[in-house]
Amino acid sequence: MTAFPHVLITGATGQLGSALTDRLAERCHRLSLCALEEDKLADQAARVTRQHDIAVTATALDVRDEAALNEWIRSSDAEMPIDLAIMNAGIGGQVGPGAMIESPDRSAALVDANLNGVLHTLHAVLPQMLARGRGHLVVVSSLSAVIGYDRAPVYAATKAALRVLCLSLRPSLSARGIGLTLACPGFLDSPMQDGHHPWRPFSLSPQAAADAIVTAAGKRRAQTHFPLTMAALVRTLALMPLPLREAIYRRLSSGGANRSTPKPKGAPTGAP
Ligand SMILES: NC(=O)c1ccc[n+]([C@@H]2O[C@H](COP(=O)([O-])OP(=O)(O)OC[C@H]3O[C@@H](n4cnc5c(N)ncnc54)[C@H](OP(=O)(O)O)[C@@H]3O)[C@@H](O)[C@H]2O)c1
Repeated sequence: MTAFPHVLITGATGQLGSALTDRLAERCHRLSLCALEEDKLADQAARVTRQHDIAVTATALDVRDEAALNEWIRSSDAEMPIDLAIMNAGIGGQVGPGAMIESPDRSAALVDANLNGVLHTLHAVLPQMLARGRGHLVVVSSLSAVIGYDRAPVYAATKAALRVLCLSLRPSLSARGIGLTLACPGFLDSPMQDGHHPWRPFSLSPQAAADAIVTAAGKRRAQTHFPLTMAALVRTLALMPLPLREAIYRRLSSGGANRSTPKPKGAPTGAP
């Protein structure tokens, strides 16, 4: 018997979302997927349906659209109760050369997609789970939520907000039978850009990241930080006095800046 018969994933077509879809398709009966781009989503649903004998519904929608998200989640739950909801949709990217913070427009977009998108999903999925007294939630944050990230400050702030949201919610949710796993990935592998690999220390494949998340959810863990080496480094930095931490961080980060290739502004990935 599978632990999560019906799994819902937002941002299902991205690098992590696709890997999560593949992993979970092996062990569930129904997948409800959403992302922005309809064609990519339809291709993904067709591929999963070809490879696995499960029901897949794919709905193109924007997680910033509270009403659309609410309707999608309620109708998915009516088809079959949602056992696991993975809040993975998000946008990233780094600040351009010479900039210290994301532009006002980009900052608003980051807050809307990364934070409000998760809030809308939670508000829609929780009432049914609470009524049943069971269900599991996964919120995809980032290692940047632990100590910040100077090349994507607003992105890191949205991920830190998710982290604190999870820490605040977990005790009362678990008292009502609902599990919650906070997932904090480090850098995921990124394709070569202009003949160079961007500097992404200890990066790991989306498949390895998906495995870590699925394992943590299956074991009902409160949180998972990975990859281990990067997570240990970040957590050690977090324990240090701020001036020392900042000095080490500046050193590591400036070493990386010399090796990295600037990312196009607004590119979807790039921040951990
Ligand atoms: N990549 C990393 O190094 C890294 C590290 C740590 C944490 N993370 C987090 O992991 C998650 C997935 O990242 P990723 O690298 O897989 O990103 P990605 O490849 O850019 O995929 C993002 C996914 O989210 C969807 N999406 C974006 N905005 C949306 C919106 N407003 N409404 C609905 N769907 C939306 C995209 O759909 P479309 O393709 O249709 O636009 C896509 O399916 C994100 O939350 C990210 O912050 C990533």
